[in-house]
Amino acid sequence: ELHRIPHPPHRLPVLGDVLGARLRSPVQDSMRIGRELGPVFRRKAFGKEIVFVGGADLAAEMADESRFAKHVGLGVANLRPIAGDGLFTAYNDEPNWQLAHDVLAPGFSREAMEGYHPMMLDVAERLMDSWDRERTAGRAVNVPRDMTRLTLETIARTGFGHDFGSFERARPHPFVTAMVGTLSYAQRRNQVPEPLAPLLLRRAARLNEADMAYLNRTVDEVVEARRSSGKGDGNGDLLDRMLETAHPETGERLSPENVRRQVITFLVAGHETTSGALSFALHYLSRHPDVATRARAEVDRVWGDTPRPGYEQVARLRYVRRVLDESLRLWPTAPAFAREAREDTVLGGVHPLRRGAWALVLTVMLHRDPAVWGADAERFDPDRFDAKAVRARPAHTFKPFGTGARACIGRQFALHEATLVLGLLLRRYELRPDPEYQLRVAERLTLMPEGLTLHLDSRGPLS
Ligand code: HEM
Repeated sequence: ELHRIPHPPHRLPVLGDVLGARLRSPVQDSMRIGRELGPVFRRKAFGKEIVFVGGADLAAEMADESRFAKHVGLGVANLRPIAGDGLFTAYNDEPNWQLAHDVLAPGFSREAMEGYHPMMLDVAERLMDSWDRERTAGRAVNVPRDMTRLTLETIARTGFGHDFGSFERARPHPFVTAMVGTLSYAQRRNQVPEPLAPLLLRRAARLNEADMAYLNRTVDEVVEARRSSGKGDGNGDLLDRMLETAHPETGERLSPENVRRQVITFLVAGHETTSGALSFALHYLSRHPDVATRARAEVDRVWGDTPRPGYEQVARLRYVRRVLDESLRLWPTAPAFAREAREDTVLGGVHPLRRGAWALVLTVMLHRDPAVWGADAERFDPDRFDAKAVRARPAHTFKPFGTGARACIGRQFALHEATLVLGLLLRRYELRPDPEYQLRVAERLTLMPEGLTLHLDSRGPLS
């Protein structure tokens, strides 16, 4: 039924579209193919065929919640062994999704966010202490490493009252190493035919078992520490909610096994993508001094020299937020999401889909559709997100946080954290790029600017 959907020209029997496929960068590979084949295309490898949607019209159809829903497939499904029926990996009809969603949603309310704000500031100050030291020593900073330190500490602290000590460590915390291992393994599983996986990935599978065991052990320690320290010790943070809160209507609680799944889910989902978003934004700021100057002027105007800007003052950084949005447009760090048909339907009026059939919305191509973003869609320009331009754009054209009932629960959390941190860094430093650096995007389900370093010059309080 998919015969009208184009696929790469040199399709081999059995193997499929494997000629020229780059295994380490499936997303950028699909971008290349999408540029050749258009708004919808399919790729086949070892008998598995995947439909990709990158055009805005079709993506908008797939955002229609009456016709489509989240599909737990590919990389997301491959995370089930570690995240189980946690919020991100739960099937739509699994009872623990609704239960956990209802119990945890208040943890992302405005009041909750105001409570997290001072902790986010504390962590950002630790980042700046470490950057001050690098600056004084004349060393460039390793951006993805440091943004990962920052976002891991932020979610661990605000969500679970835990300190991983990332800034005091020379190497990434083993939790991060194990997590990256698990994400990379989940990505590789997509590229190997199911029956051959035990053979081809035997060594990787063993390492993955060890990684998962480490993640579970770490999480069990965090939970145990809270249980033994007494009730409500976290001031109503996510962990308190997971352990203490009964569903407002049914009185039901999360089981210990499900709590473990949720803690892993939040520690992973809560920092990896935000770290990438901050890293891409810093890359673009360093390459666009005019944008950095404008953003910095806004921070100076809105914050003055108050050392610890308040919660309210973050939302007022409108231009800084546009820089972040524009970075997430070009490199949505969760670069795709899957949607399945609720009933038999016809996509775009021509492609019949049976109930349960699914396709991948390639956000990173949707965000570059020239029909929406213009002929210069590849150019970095935060003014695309000024209020007038946003109003003029059709719905469902900017989807870095997914869509519908299963969209990102941590959206406001991520945006608040990232805007706060960009504001603080812009106020304190001039960012000088390494002239040799060419943007290289590493993929491990999420996207990250690999090897990005920046030189810091001080301004403001330090100079
Ligand atoms: C879901 C992106 C930050 C927790 C999602 C989805 C996307 C996404 C695209 C939907 C996935 C799908 O449809 O399969 C991002 C990006 C972030 C970010 C780009 C940062 C820039 C966060 C943070 C947290 C978080 C900070 C937690 C504190 C979650 C959870 C889900 C989710 C729990 C599953 C929600 C559900 O299905 O009910 N995120 N996210 N994310 N995200 Fe995020």
